[in-house]
Amino acid sequence: MTMKKNILCIGAGYVGGPTMAMIAHKCPKYKITVVDINPQRIAEWNSDTLPIYEPGLDELVLATRGKNLFFSADIAAGIRDNDIIFVSVNTPTKTFGAGAGMAADLQFWEATARQILQYSQSSKIVIEKSTLPVKTALTMEQILNSAHNGIFFDVLSNPEFMAEGTAIQDLENPDRILIGSRETERGLTARQVLVDIYTHWIPPEKIVTSNIWSSELSKLVANAFLAQRISSINAISALCEKAEANIGEVARAVGMDSRIGAKFLNASVGFGGSCFKKDILNLVYLCRSYGLDEVADYWEGVVKINEYQQNRFTMTMLKAMFNTLAAKKICLLGFAFKANTGDTRESPALFIARRLLEEKAEVVISDPKALQNATIDLKDVRGSIRYVEDPYEATAGCHAIAVMTEWDLYRNLDFKRIYRTMSQPAFIFDGRNILDHRRLFDIGFNVYPIGKPPLTHF
Ligand code: NAD
Ligand code: UGA
Repeated sequence: MTMKKNILCIGAGYVGGPTMAMIAHKCPKYKITVVDINPQRIAEWNSDTLPIYEPGLDELVLATRGKNLFFSADIAAGIRDNDIIFVSVNTPTKTFGAGAGMAADLQFWEATARQILQYSQSSKIVIEKSTLPVKTALTMEQILNSAHNGIFFDVLSNPEFMAEGTAIQDLENPDRILIGSRETERGLTARQVLVDIYTHWIPPEKIVTSNIWSSELSKLVANAFLAQRISSINAISALCEKAEANIGEVARAVGMDSRIGAKFLNASVGFGGSCFKKDILNLVYLCRSYGLDEVADYWEGVVKINEYQQNRFTMTMLKAMFNTLAAKKICLLGFAFKANTGDTRESPALFIARRLLEEKAEVVISDPKALQNATIDLKDVRGSIRYVEDPYEATAGCHAIAVMTEWDLYRNLDFKRIYRTMSQPAFIFDGRNILDHRRLFDIGFNVYPIGKPPLTHF
């Protein structure tokens, strides 16, 4: 069968894999190829055990792989054979040189641009799917159109707004699809090609088009706003603990104002994930580089409150447990940065585990999907760490439990049974406020929620 369109995606990660599987599923007449510089990752996408855990992803890949979805390590052929190229390579925070710890590290991005230029034999549309600093498209255009060989590249911005754990739902039914382009005749024609792809399943009113810089910037701003809500509620959680208010009640009352809305107001041990912190720091760096220090300071506060919240959580544990954690066994229930993913990048659990080990606690880590990543994350950290998937086995003999991830599984544990197997006095620190605190207290636990006064037997 001849395919109506051939589409390439460079970068087979958390974004590239699921987004392309969804396009393949919704556009059966298009051939989609996903390439990556990491051949191991490609082999995993072609195997029975996909490299990432995401509810619904296995089914989607199984239905499309080998039909119109292909994973390949041949980047050169991919570029040569496809005229529509999504780029979803990683754009982490720079760890060296100017802007270290703040700016986006664009080396993978630029390497991709150079690869595209090197292997292209015809004009192409290149789509930024990765999250990038505003004005990156300009650099991309400059590199791509530097050869003056009659081949022309149109660059579009099409940021991804899916969240891990709900990626498939989000991709199937997004709040919006954003497409930024140059507002020239060429730019608008390229934009229409992308609109036509999404029109296969997205209602037209949800496909928003804009100028390319607005599109790039909107992605950073959306993440900054989301993270800002979490830092706002987390800041207030500290006040609630002092003032005997209940953060759940405050969040409900505040969120019922339709101008504010109820989502993203769950107080927690802090936000994690590969993007919030990096994207806000990227925004902060951009503002500073434009001389907008007040704006930069404002957004940097979101990251500072997140660090404060994680640190506060550890200090609460330390103080509650008689100011020493040395040789105490502490079970972290959950290690993923949120439920329904195995991803541990920037997970608050990572920070807490490190801090507890510094205090010489013995840490037991439990998680239904993230133990493999946890082992890799902590491989260079010294101290006593055990990885135990079964939560009953993991908590047995422990002095304390700290809930790090809001897995449903933890809501329904038999805490009476757990209490009996723990060292006394037993403590629970609920970093996600998902447990029934009054019931735990009645069982005998000393309970420390976020943003509510503790319930203790002392
Ligand atoms: P990831 O690390 O999971 O995947 C990136 C992939 O790109 C890796 O497999 C890497 O090997 C590959 N790669 C790097 N350089 C390459 C090159 N030159 N050629 C071919 N492949 C190359 O990252 P991710 O989580 O998928 O994120 C990708 C981008 O999407 C980032 O900019 C991120 O900010 C953005 N984003 C991520 C999410 C998310 O939920 N993870 C959501 C929205 C946007
Ligand atoms: C986030 C955004 O929600 C996506 O729109 C965006 O595409 C993505 O970043 C990205 O650019 O990578 P993600 O990080 O996957 O998605 O997950 P979220 O649901 O946003 O959760 C982020 C963190 O905030 C998690 O640690 C979560 O537990 C925490 N969180 C979330 C809270 O502490 N409280 C809340 O009310 C909501």
